[in-house]
This record gives sequence, structure tokens and C-alpha cells, in this order.
Amino acid sequence: MQKKRLAALAVAALIVAACGDDDEATTTTADGGSTETTGAAGTDECTVGVSWNNYQEERWAKWDEPALKAAIEAGGGTYVSNDAKSSAETQASNLENLISQGADVLVVLAQDGTAIKPAVASAVAGGVPVIAYDRLIEDPDALYITFDNQLVGKMQAEAVFAAVPTGNYVIIKGNSADANADFLRSGMELVIGEAVAAGDITIVGETYTDNWDPATAQASMEQFLTAENNEIDAVLAQNDGMAGGVIAALDAQGLAGSIPVSGQDGDQAALNRVALGTQTVDVWKDARALGTAAGEAAVQLCKDADASKVAGASPFTTPGGNDLATILLTPIPITQENLNVVLDAGWIDKATLCNGVDATKVSVCA
Ligand code: BGC
Repeated sequence: MQKKRLAALAVAALIVAACGDDDEATTTTADGGSTETTGAAGTDECTVGVSWNNYQEERWAKWDEPALKAAIEAGGGTYVSNDAKSSAETQASNLENLISQGADVLVVLAQDGTAIKPAVASAVAGGVPVIAYDRLIEDPDALYITFDNQLVGKMQAEAVFAAVPTGNYVIIKGNSADANADFLRSGMELVIGEAVAAGDITIVGETYTDNWDPATAQASMEQFLTAENNEIDAVLAQNDGMAGGVIAALDAQGLAGSIPVSGQDGDQAALNRVALGTQTVDVWKDARALGTAAGEAAVQLCKDADASKVAGASPFTTPGGNDLATILLTPIPITQENLNVVLDAGWIDKATLCNGVDATKVSVCA
């Protein structure tokens, strides 16, 4: 009985295979017909497995993922993905899971750049090249695709420093297991370092923030305000989500809008805060371009696993001393003066950007 059923299945599989072209899958439709589709997982020449660590920030689901998927599919590949829900352990098994789904290349947004290293090394050893997406993974064979994160931190500090060149600064950093937190901090140092050494700026509070969590950033800011009797003159927050938490803490003390705050990502709410004047700068990284670059690179890696041969890649020496093939994109600082840039790029619509804004004060909202 069992044997007969297996034999029947094998025959059915042969018929299906005979009906389809080599690199196409045949799907039987509800009305009994069949359609040819490219891109069915496992049957393609290029399946790209994308491991997201979470979707906490707006950018990942709204901009990065659709751009990545579109670029993979435009290159004839198939997109498969999973979500580690902020767990480094889950992410390690998620990489194996993507490989067992047929992934020929992995794209990894690392929850913890160190913890994921063994899983990345074993993928590479098994012939599956890895793209470290947005966040560094110190593996010499990985292709690192990101924005220039040191420049992001520099741009954040430049805008805040231009507004307040002396006084008490607070620095709200991102997740310590994400190399970006330290890249950003090093860029900030280029701007404020001298003033700190000269005693013109005092850093009265500096902390990492688990998981870049806005509520944790808000709690940190509340503690710093209390400890300093509200005598804080400027805040360098490393992303928009945390800037939102910081500004909520300032608002509770009647200080929102009078203390410069930085951010990054171009979150819709943050760009609105820039227009409203409660956030000084939002360093904008067009995540559509990052997703596209990674999707196109993944398709190339399917054909040749050598990261250094990917179009546009050049060597970058990491803090760990590895020379990684890297594609670095350039961020743009957005302040009240150039909000038209994100509007013109179709990143945000005017109603959202200008919600509640006094149009006589902000020209883009007029
Ligand atoms: C990214 C930021 C993001 C943060 C939290 C960083 O690695 O570069 O764009 O806001 O992670 O997801």
C-alpha cells in the first residue's frame, strides 16, 4: 500500500516535471488549468534567503524589504525570508532554515554581529555566500553593504553642534551588539571631540540602548534630565525611533523644541518632527537604494561567490582588521532647510510631512 502510493507520487512528479520548462515551475490552478511561474522556491537557479532580525523600525518593512525583493526578482531570483524577532539564537537557526529552503545566497541583517559569526562561517564554508546587510559581520568572506555609518554620526553631530557648540551633551547610542552604534559614535567624535577636550562640551550622559528601543531611550533620557536638573543643552540620538523617546522625555519637561536632537532613518514621524522643529536633523538613508544594491549583489553572488568581484565593491578595513569587500552608500542630512529633498524623492507626502506645521515658518509646507 505504502509502496504503491510512493510509486504514484513519483509518476505524478515525473509528469509535472515533463510539463514544465527547466527553470520554471508548473502550478495547478483552482480551475484545473496550469500556469507557468518563475521564481518558485527551490526550483530556481538563484534563491536568496534574507534573515531579518526584527521589523521594529519603520524602514525595514516599508522600504528595505520591498526594494530587496524587487531587485532579486528582477534578476530572475526568488526571495525567501524569516524574522528572528530580536533573538540572536533564533537568527542563527534561521540561517540554517533558509539554506534548507534552498537559499543559494544569504542576506543577513544581524541582531548581534558577533553571535552570528559561526552561522555565517558555516554557510560560507558550505558554499553559500553571505551579504552583511546594513550591519557589519566580521567575516572576511562576507560582502558588506551599508551606508557610511561613520558619516551618519558625523552628520548628526554637525547639525547639533552648529546649533549648540558648547554645553551639556547627552549621547543616546544604539544596540551595543550592532557595530553601527560605535561607527556612529566615532563620527560624532570627529565633530565634538575637540570641544570636549577643551572643556566647552561636557558629556553628562552617554549610554547604549538595548535593541535600539525607543522606550528604553526615553527612560534613559528621563534619568539624565533628573540627574542634571534638566540642565541639558543637546542630545545626540542615533536613530529616529530613539529620538522620538528622547523628545517625549523632553516634552514632559516642557523642553521639546528648545534642545537640539538628532536622528536617522527618515521615519515619517521624525521628518514631521523636523518640520515641527522638535528634531534638529534626520540623517536620511534612502533604504530603497540599499535594498536594491543588496538584491543586485545577491543575484551576482549566485553566479560567482567571490564578493570582491561584485560590481561596485571595494575593500574596507573593519575595526576587527578584516578587509571586507564593501559597498558604501552616502547618507544625506535633512533639516528644516532641505525637507524638499525627501518630498521630491517620493519618500513622504506633504500632508504627512507638514501635519500640524505652521506653513508660514516652514517654506516646504507653504
Ligand atoms: C541601522 C539603523 C536602524 C537601527 C535600528 C541600525 O543598524 O543602521 O538605520 O535605525 O539599526 O534598526
